[in-house]
Amino acid sequence: MINKTITTEKNQEIIKALNWRYAVKIFDKNKKVSDEDLYTILESARLSPSSSGIEMWKFIVVDNPEVRTKLREVGDNQPKITDASHLIVLTYRTDTEKSLVKERLERTAKIQNQSIETLGGLKAILEGGVAKHIKQEDLEYWVKAQAYIPLGMMIETSALLGVDAGPMEGFEPGKVDKILGLKEKNLKSVTMLALGYRGEDPASTRPKVRREFDEVIEFIK
Ligand SMILES: Cc1cc2nc3c(=O)[nH]c(=O)nc-3n(C[C@H](O)[C@H](O)[C@H](O)COP(=O)(O)O)c2cc1C
Repeated sequence: MINKTITTEKNQEIIKALNWRYAVKIFDKNKKVSDEDLYTILESARLSPSSSGIEMWKFIVVDNPEVRTKLREVGDNQPKITDASHLIVLTYRTDTEKSLVKERLERTAKIQNQSIETLGGLKAILEGGVAKHIKQEDLEYWVKAQAYIPLGMMIETSALLGVDAGPMEGFEPGKVDKILGLKEKNLKSVTMLALGYRGEDPASTRPKVRREFDEVIEFIK
């Protein structure tokens, strides 16, 4: 159904980086990600797409070692929470209802140098689209789901930069929220991402387990 040869250097590099990448369990405690790489990875989160462009998220970089120790206690005691060079907690906003359309319009008007009134079409699309497709009870789930997009973007950007990443859902979100004081900021945690360089990690030599291309990709002609 598709020619599966990759000849272009750029494409080969991407696939090579994605095969090199794995979810790191044990990081080297002594290796630090440079500011430039960290900034590039965080920019890839900020530049992520989101449904209707709502960007209802915040990425919290936790540098404080005591806070990271506390997070590890409620994070299945995963060593990467304390040992990786950097720890990013991906959160989503809970003040969606009031802010979703309003902020999106204000942001667009400001950046595109227009008045809110001229954005009536966008307003109708946002209000109509969200109201039409998202049931009220699913709103929080929908906003939360958006946060997985920057997670994927950061994982890929890291791989392309040769930085290791360890995504995590294995933690108690309510307790993480408490430790980071997220409720007061109208935020809830959804995932974490450890960044750094692989240490002596048995997982690093295990062959990658993936379904076959034809099992997960289907062409409808
Ligand atoms: C959203 C998400 C949450 C994950 N949570 C954890 C976790 O808490 N701990 C862990 O060791 N790995 C976690 N992983 C890693 C996955 O188990 C891993 O990506 C998957 O088994 C595929 O292996 P690979 O990424 O090494 O190729 C998570 C991955 C994702 C995408």
